[in-house]
Amino acid sequence: MRKKVTVVGGGFVGATAAQRIADAGLADVVLTDILDGVPAGKGLDMLEAMPILRSDARVEGVSTQGGDYSATAGSAVVVITAGFARKPGMSRDDLVKANYAVVKDVTEAVARLSPEAILMVVTNPLDVMCQVAYRASKFPKNRVIGMAGVLDSARMRAFIATEMCVSVENVHAFVLGGHGDDMVPLPRYSTVAGIPLPELLPKERIEAIVQRTRKGGGEIVNLLKTGSAYYAPSAAVYEMVDAILRDRKKILPCSAYLEGEYGIQGLFMGVPVKLGAQGIEQVVEIKLTPDEQAALDKSAASVREVVNLLNL
Ligand code: LAC
Repeated sequence: MRKKVTVVGGGFVGATAAQRIADAGLADVVLTDILDGVPAGKGLDMLEAMPILRSDARVEGVSTQGGDYSATAGSAVVVITAGFARKPGMSRDDLVKANYAVVKDVTEAVARLSPEAILMVVTNPLDVMCQVAYRASKFPKNRVIGMAGVLDSARMRAFIATEMCVSVENVHAFVLGGHGDDMVPLPRYSTVAGIPLPELLPKERIEAIVQRTRKGGGEIVNLLKTGSAYYAPSAAVYEMVDAILRDRKKILPCSAYLEGEYGIQGLFMGVPVKLGAQGIEQVVEIKLTPDEQAALDKSAASVREVVNLLNL
């Protein structure tokens, strides 16, 4: 039997993630949204594409407007993309509080019906929303994972590959820390065909790539004007779901609950983890220079500041 993946939130990120999973035949997909009709329409549209794409995945879109999440029961993975984007006049704190309520409610509903699921949080502010889902689900820490580092490092890889005119497959990039402007791209651990970046590019070019990576989400928002990125975010979700469902034990940068690793206690932060059937099977600790550790500490302080707003 194919496994079931629920994607909560039928906006661009959620729907595109659902599409990637269904197109590949990775799992059956339930796409939910608070809107009436829209998730059912998108789900049906995707289902009707399956014969052309030669995928046997079942896709169903359901509205959870009345609070009925029963279609999600027994999911192996639940991807949470639901939440508000910042609207004019809304402060960052307003957004945090609005999305806190959404993520808390959604998590409680899906955790009840899929008690063995792995929760993958995508809603921003990412690392803080992971903390909300962790508390609301009461799941063990290996089963609550945030998607951010795969996206951030994919952006960095794309920039490096373009700069050096090499295949993206030759490029590895490591980005640690929270999913915000304080994230910590690590050039020393970023390589082209195994060669560290500092041996390949001048300092100022590396710094430009680092800065563009940090502001990668904002660059897209500024271009789109009415929304934020979804092609790369949904691709990142797909890679993580694939690693879990196929038990690939891939080392990927994800937001994980840290209890002392990297000197961080009781906080979700982006770190390299081993992703497999059990979710986060290991946090991979790498040795940081004092400067890198200081940058990571600064990023952790930013995340903690927002967590504290919610008294989590
Ligand atoms: C991004 C936002 C959506 O990085 O978090 O694109």
